[in-house]
Parts: sequence; C-alpha cells; structure tokens
Amino acid sequence: MGSLLVDDIGELVTNVAGTGDGGPLGLRRDAAVLIEDGRVAWVGPARYAPAADRRIDAQGGAVLPGFVDSHAHLVFAGDRAAEFAARMAGEPYTGGGIRTTVGATRAASDGQLRATVRRLVGEAMRQGTTTIETKSGYGLTVADEARSLRIAAEVTGETTFLGAHVVPAEYAGRPDDYVGLVCGPMLAAAAPYARWVDVFCERGAFDADHARAILTVGQAAGLGVRLHANQLGPGPGVQLGVELGAASVDHCTHLSDADVDALAGSTTVATLLPGAEFSTRSPYPDARRLLDAGVTVALATDCNPGSSYTSSMPFCVALAVREMRMTPAEAVWAATAGGARALRRDDVGVLRPGARADLVVLDAPSHLHLAYRPGVPLIRQVLHNGVPQCRS
Ligand code: NIG
Ligand code: FE
Repeated sequence: MGSLLVDDIGELVTNVAGTGDGGPLGLRRDAAVLIEDGRVAWVGPARYAPAADRRIDAQGGAVLPGFVDSHAHLVFAGDRAAEFAARMAGEPYTGGGIRTTVGATRAASDGQLRATVRRLVGEAMRQGTTTIETKSGYGLTVADEARSLRIAAEVTGETTFLGAHVVPAEYAGRPDDYVGLVCGPMLAAAAPYARWVDVFCERGAFDADHARAILTVGQAAGLGVRLHANQLGPGPGVQLGVELGAASVDHCTHLSDADVDALAGSTTVATLLPGAEFSTRSPYPDARRLLDAGVTVALATDCNPGSSYTSSMPFCVALAVREMRMTPAEAVWAATAGGARALRRDDVGVLRPGARADLVVLDAPSHLHLAYRPGVPLIRQVLHNGVPQCRS
C-alpha cells in the first residue's frame, strides 16, 4: 500500500485534548498526517513531515476525523414521505408508522434491503461518515431480524439488535409473549450478527420491566447495551440505561434533574439526534444542560425512514449549534469523538498515531464552517482506513 502524506492542512482537528491549541479538539495549524497500513503513523507540523510514497494536498483546508454516526436504522424498505408531509401539516409523531415500515421490510428481498443499506452507507460516506452503527428493528420476526443484522454486518461491525422496536401487529395485546420471543429465539438468531442490544423504551413501545428483561438477556449473550430513551416523553429509560451500564442512551429529549444527575455520575453517553426533532417538528433536547452537568454528549443522525431520514452528520452538527446551543467545537467533538465514546471505540473519532486513518478534508479553512455554512457540500475528500473514498 505504501505511505501516504496528507499535508498543507490549514487546521487539523485531532481530538487529542491538551495538544495543539490545548482545547478539547486538539487543534493544530499548518499540520500534516502520515498514514501507513491504514493507520495514522505520525501527526505534526507540515514543515517536519516525513517523506511518503504519495501525497494528498489539503490546500489549506481543515481536516478532521471521519464522523462517527453511532445511531442509524438503515435496514428497511419503502419510505414514509407522506407521513412526513402530514406531520408538516400538523400531525404529531407517535412512532406508529414503524409498523408501516415493518410491513414493507418483511415483503422486501435480501437484495432490495442490501441495496438500500449500501446506498445509505455510501451517501453517509460522501458526507464524511467513516464509522456507522445500524440497527435491526423493522423485521420483528426471528427470520427477519436475523437477516436484517446479517445484511447490516456486511457493511459495519457496529450492528445492534432492536427486536424490541415496537410490538408487531400479530402480537397486539400480548406484549409479554412478544418479549418472550425477543428474549429467546430471536436473540439467539440475531446475536451472531450483533455487537449491541437496544430497546425502544417509551410509552406505546416497551416499558421498563420489558426493557430490563431484554437488555439483561442481551448482556448475558455477550452484547453491549444501548437504549432509545426519553424521546417522546419523560420515562424510566435513561436511568435504566445508566443502571445497566449502557454505552449510550439515545434521544434524551425529555429529562428530569435525576436523569441528568444519573448520567453525570456515569460513563453512559447521552446521544442526541437532532434530525429526529427537526423531522418531527419537536422541541430539541437541552444539550447545554447536559454539557454543563459534565455529561458526555454524542451527536448522531438516527437515519431512518420515519423520524429522521437524513444521513448527514454535517446537518446534525449545524442543527446542534443553531438549535441546541452547542458551540461549533462541542458539536464537532460530539459528532466524532463523542460517537466513538458512544460505541466504546478508541481507534476512531481521533487522529493520533495508531488510530484508524479515517479523515475528512473540508473545502473550508476551519471546522467552524460545518455549522456556519449549513447545507453546503463542504466535504472535499474522505479517507477510510487510509484509502481515498470520494472526491466531490
Ligand atoms: O429512533 N424511536 C424509535 N425508532 C426510531 C423511529 C423509527 C421510525 O419512525 O421508523 C427513532 O426515532
Ligand atoms: Fe433511533
């Protein structure tokens, strides 16, 4: 493969706290990055850059770690554009549309599901995402959940079993029976393809007892815990996640003081998904309250056909800054290093020797432009494992 030098970097976001400018982004000016065997081999001032076999000229642009999108639902069929239009005309979002997507997903062939997953992963990559998590949750039978995860595992190691997304129509009025299926044969079929287990813990989906039962057996099967919590209203999800040592609790839109305190005293990340509030026209989570309490915050897209059909991390960064009072630096950190924390990864979301060589080159002089120039295609080049992916 040989070595590759990315140089003439006007501003490098390393996320190595205390280096460079001394802040959390570890900003370096006039920098270069040497890549060998898909890993970062050296980071330093461009004038001291070692010789390399090949060179990429960042032309004075900003370079940052590839985005880590720690929450997405990419295995589905169909879309729900009409549901979106109805919401924009005043209908509320209830999560009820999930069953529509379940019907379409069950009816789809493996090839159709695979094509959608690959299309969305490619779309995300062109917008700078180099690590993406994806969940099952639109199959809700043993066979459909297992195939969803099998297809997801073809494109990412960050796969999450979400058999407990909603109770499917054929189990209406029998949630205990469905939870039994999820905890037994469905988990057994899904676990070989999954790293994580997740539950939609919400009124109208699964209560705390059901969530605890599913997450506990998932843990016993070797899966890490993450949770959809406190999205549509207050509830027990966040504190249950903290109690079970979840890597992340996601959404966190409706939090009590006790929820914030529990997060602040834990290693559980609060993953905020502003695309969902945008697309459901809902109030945004209070990121400032979480950050000021010392909670680790991540940003992710929640890409799914219902509540947030965007694969764009730059869009989420812009929303977080404009609508959630995060500083541009906090939002960029949350979309890179924060996502890595939410997935308990230390090899991504950071640019230091040994890290995976996942880099985004911006058509802009600093990370500030991601929020300052919303909707503009600023991603000039993406490197994944040291390999150039796209040039826009
Ligand atoms: O994260 N909240 C539950 N699941 C998804 C929505 C899925 C859908 O509406 O299809 C979410 O927002
Ligand atoms: Fe989600």
